[in-house]
Amino acid sequence: MTKWCLWASSFPEGTLEWITMFNKGLKYYKSGRFHFDKIRYEYKRVIDSMNLPKNGELRVIDIGSGSGRLIHECLIPLLPKNIKEIVATDLDQSMVEFARSVNENPKVKFGVLDIGAENIPEHFYNRFDILFSSYCFQYVQDIRRGFSNCKKLLAPNGQFLMIFQFKTNYLFSIYKKMSSIDKWNKYMKEYANFTPHFSSKDPDSELKRLSKDYGLTLLDHKFEPEYQYYFPKWACLDIFQSIDFKLATIPKDQQEDYIQDFVTILSEVTNIDFSDEKTMDESIILSIPTVCVHAKNSESR
Ligand SMILES: C[S@@+](CC[C@H](N)C(=O)[O-])C[C@H]1O[C@@H](n2cnc3c(N)ncnc32)[C@H](O)[C@@H]1O
Repeated sequence: MTKWCLWASSFPEGTLEWITMFNKGLKYYKSGRFHFDKIRYEYKRVIDSMNLPKNGELRVIDIGSGSGRLIHECLIPLLPKNIKEIVATDLDQSMVEFARSVNENPKVKFGVLDIGAENIPEHFYNRFDILFSSYCFQYVQDIRRGFSNCKKLLAPNGQFLMIFQFKTNYLFSIYKKMSSIDKWNKYMKEYANFTPHFSSKDPDSELKRLSKDYGLTLLDHKFEPEYQYYFPKWACLDIFQSIDFKLATIPKDQQEDYIQDFVTILSEVTNIDFSDEKTMDESIILSIPTVCVHAKNSESR
């Protein structure tokens, strides 16, 4: 510890913040890959069904790209060569910086974008032929606004494929529990009444209504309430710690305490014991009810 402090103190100001930010992306890069087979399968199914033209230029956007690894390992190999641009976006600037720093493909451009924001950049309106999003939409608090923004991004006839967790949401359940702890309440109050998306008895009708309300035609969708992933415990812990965007809002002198509470509550909501370091390589099963939504912009050219 002392050694680390001495070494760290010789960096120019701001370097440590940068290393911490970079670590988040790196952590997700290493751990967030156990869903790739599922994503490849779903993306391929939809891309094949689209019969994409081999000439003309296609523009693609990815929402909630994280470290960007999925774009390179799952998405790009499935796309035809006539892609003009792939815009990789994320709410979290540190993820965007990391993804940009490891990118070698000149067609991929990066930007910070909150798909749940009131306003999204107008130069993106009606621009994209295909929108992809994998395991991001469970974190868009106002899903209606998220759908409405996606519709704005799509070119006439443009299509989207969104895959996300429904019915349960581990990260926001942690924030909800933390909102009832005095010392964390002021950082988490907006989660006190959070209910996971599509947790009603009839998610099908909910999705149909939502799509219709925002000018989207549903082409195909499936709810898989029993979907499960297998991964080592360490990866589970790293995934949730790397996507936790609340830590950065906590004062530095409380962060260690916050991390401890975060892991304890993660353990409660997932029912996985992270307390014994010797067991971190053990494989665990995590239930992630998953919905895949393939829709198109109802407006045609
Ligand atoms: C579980 S990761 C998924 C990353 C990648 N798509 C994958 O499947 O590996 C979720 C990502 O969504 C991002 N995210 C959360 N809320 C978002 C929002 N409102 N707009 C855009 N991105 C968001 C997070 O920062 C995080 O990088």
